[in-house]
Amino acid sequence: MKPVKVGVLGLGTVGGGTVNVLKRNAAEIARRAGREIVITRASARDLNRERICDTQGIVLTTDPYEIINDPEIDIVLELIGGCGPVKEMVLTAIANGKHVVTANKALIALHGNEIFARASEKGVMVAFEAAVAGGIPIIKAIREGLSGNQIQWLAGIINGTGNFILTEMRDKGRDFSDVLAEAQALGYAEADPTFDVEGIDAGHKLTILASIAFGIPLQFDKVFTEGITKITREDVEYAEALGYRIKHLGIARKTPEGIELRVHPTLIPARRLIANVDGVMNAVLVKGDAVGPTLYYGAGAGAEPTASAVVADVVDVVRALTGDPENRVPHLAFQADSLADIPVLPSEEFRTAYYLRLHAEDKPGVLADVTRILANHQISIEAIIQKEALDDKGFMPIIMLTQITLEKEMNAAIAEIEALPMVNGKVNRIRLETLG
Ligand code: HSE
Repeated sequence: MKPVKVGVLGLGTVGGGTVNVLKRNAAEIARRAGREIVITRASARDLNRERICDTQGIVLTTDPYEIINDPEIDIVLELIGGCGPVKEMVLTAIANGKHVVTANKALIALHGNEIFARASEKGVMVAFEAAVAGGIPIIKAIREGLSGNQIQWLAGIINGTGNFILTEMRDKGRDFSDVLAEAQALGYAEADPTFDVEGIDAGHKLTILASIAFGIPLQFDKVFTEGITKITREDVEYAEALGYRIKHLGIARKTPEGIELRVHPTLIPARRLIANVDGVMNAVLVKGDAVGPTLYYGAGAGAEPTASAVVADVVDVVRALTGDPENRVPHLAFQADSLADIPVLPSEEFRTAYYLRLHAEDKPGVLADVTRILANHQISIEAIIQKEALDDKGFMPIIMLTQITLEKEMNAAIAEIEALPMVNGKVNRIRLETLG
């Protein structure tokens, strides 16, 4: 059989890694796919740049459309990233009848509904395993491996850069900006690193995971995101003292009222496996009604781990090339005409427990005032620590864990606590999940 011809758009970290893996493992990959897979063309912005891959035998160009419009190319790998001109490139490739493999989470989260509709009209595949959690085959696991289940919730460490920063801050007491600079140098961070630290990148990935878990359209605009920039060393230490770790989690949960889609720093019990996922590693915990909890762990970023997912998608596409387009695995796991219209809940409707840190004058009655406000909002206290040592401004730190409550009640209670004359400054609130 004729080899399958692949064109690569972008020869950066992921593109370079993909060229290396496809070349190095060519024989093994052909045995799996049933056909030889050859990269014949690749595009890059600057052809003179030093690369991590050997481009011998590949025709290079600075114009991606030379590849997209080449009738010889069967599969286009979009490894440029971002949404601007890339969306048009992908839509043109689809219009030209080419299958597309992409690692682009922002593109899928923001424009996936349109892209998949066009792909279905043309009978081509758009595969995106590398878009979520790098080398972990989490899309395949949820979309195919767990298809007998009703997924109840999932929670993931799905941004390696953020996890690397939190781990280094906790273990080595390093500064936020110093660790971020290292993540950028290692090629983990996004072009705009605020996407990593403010939860946008994790929000893109959570959007995709929630769609394939619950059979809902992609809705990035409804994801609640909160970053890690307000986490202090003292929060990390208090959390540890109470038996918890702080992780930046993406959480998708189906409730009777609707779906919670949220990315935020979260206290989780230190004994959970996922609490011990450190550095740039990713992990996703998925709870299905039949299988129970399942955990997927691996490298969430980097050249070859991401290439591993890209190449697996290429193999899937090659295997399905001769099949009937109607009988392929649906892009979003559920048949396109069976996507559900379940509401995504506003943050006020989230139900979660909380860690609260506040600083107050060391006077009688302050604790009574705070606990009375919480009680008035039906918020039960799980644990409380009142530090004897005053902070550098002479205030007494009070740390509390609460039981699960409605976020709307907690917002109101925090506003009242902050208005107490004996309380200084803002209440620092971190959500808490037991993931049991
Ligand atoms: N910036 C991303 C991360 C890269 O740190 O996880 C992989 O998507």
